[in-house]
Amino acid sequence: MRIDVVSVFPDYLAGLKLSLLGRAQADGLVDLAVHDLRQWTHDRHRTVDDTPYGGGPGMVMKPEPWGEALDAVLERGSAAGLPSARLVVPTPAGRRFDQPTAQRLADEPWLVFACGRYEGIDQRVADHYAERLPVEEISIGDYVLSGGEVAVMAIIEAVARLLPGVVGNPESLVEESHAPGEWSGLVEYPVYTKPPVWRGLAVPDVLLSGHHANVAQWRREQARRRTAVHRPDLL
Ligand code: ADE
Repeated sequence: MRIDVVSVFPDYLAGLKLSLLGRAQADGLVDLAVHDLRQWTHDRHRTVDDTPYGGGPGMVMKPEPWGEALDAVLERGSAAGLPSARLVVPTPAGRRFDQPTAQRLADEPWLVFACGRYEGIDQRVADHYAERLPVEEISIGDYVLSGGEVAVMAIIEAVARLLPGVVGNPESLVEESHAPGEWSGLVEYPVYTKPPVWRGLAVPDVLLSGHHANVAQWRREQARRRTAVHRPDLL
């Protein structure tokens, strides 16, 4: 999968070079490039924002640098033979991100992310590109971040671990929270490792019993109980 990210804080996204995603890039499973939006400004102050039409607080990101940036990124990818891209714009006003959305994005060959800052990006940018390619405005939750970078990192991490070969043992994707299939609609059961007693707290006996059917039943009960307490909306 090819991933391009455009941001005024490219250093923010350095974390994407670490851990599972770093290895996925080293293994050639993910080809990730981060671009500095200010490359496509032409004034001395490298201006990317301006005051909002209609008044109000804050600043809005200007459409011109975004248009130049996205044209350049899309042209480069097409010239390299990539099929059509999907543009993702993180915004608290977007559609809520969830595991089915992560799976859907994981099936795409090429994702381009446009990280907004301030009060957001001039709406004409999303409207213009929607005439040329699929565009999705996505929110990672009902709270407001100062910019799209952290949201993009969350989306990319959720998407990349679904790509074949990125997670070493694909079985670990089956029983986790929000996975599709038999565990759908439940958050994950609690997990334990050695030692069997830590600070006076013992691992539940059933997990040491070696009785697979009882373990499976206990985990399912725990998942249901946890879902009822933490996420009654899912039941
Ligand atoms: N940018 C600011 N807040 C956001 C959120 N909750 N989701 C996605 N992008 C954002």
